[in-house]
Amino acid sequence: MILVMLSALVVAGSKFEAIEGQNATISFDIDEVEKADEVKISYKEDKKEYSVLIAQKPWVYDDPPVPGVTLILGKGCVSVIIQNISISRSGLYKAEAYTREKVSEVNATLVVNQAPVSSTISPPHSSSSPNPPPLL
Ligand SMILES: *[C@@H]1O[C@H](CO)[C@@H](O)[C@H](O)[C@H]1NC(C)=O
Ligand SMILES: *[C@@H]1O[C@H](CO)[C@@H](O)[C@H](O)[C@H]1NC(C)=O
Ligand SMILES: *[C@@H]1O[C@H](CO)[C@@H](O)[C@H](O)[C@H]1NC(C)=O
Repeated sequence: MILVMLSALVVAGSKFEAIEGQNATISFDIDEVEKADEVKISYKEDKKEYSVLIAQKPWVYDDPPVPGVTLILGKGCVSVIIQNISISRSGLYKAEAYTREKVSEVNATLVVNQAPVSSTISPPHSSSSPNPPPLL
């Protein structure tokens, strides 16, 4: 099966793929992130202009953290696990690590693919594709 590449999303940083309904893990390599005073993960949906904070260590707000999102701090690496990911969570993720000396920022792109249809009667060829014909 060939996955369609979303070439419009190519940015500096890594690209991750997940299947809807599963737990998606996105990892960011940041030197000495384990020593940072503060680590933030935010998310920018395609075509949206603003980012949304989804995880932070330490969490400093009165509101509870986003449910189903776990931030894991390792040596030189910070990961975020998003449970039960939906296709609308595709987009640009950003990790920021603050130390006394500097701010490090790493981007990652997440592409969430549709779960394979669980039906056993799948057609051998996608002749009934609802996609419009290519404009050539
Ligand atoms: C990460 O993405 C943002 C938004 O597109 C951009 O402004 C920033 O320069 C990027 N940073 C890196 C390190 O690629
Ligand atoms: C996702 O993570 C939760 C919590 O760790 C776990 O209970 C669940 O089984 C995981 N689901 C999948 C599809 O791996
Ligand atoms: C996963 O998300 C879908 C859509 O948001 C929801 O209908 C479903 O109940 C969720 N499943 C779990 C195990 O949380």
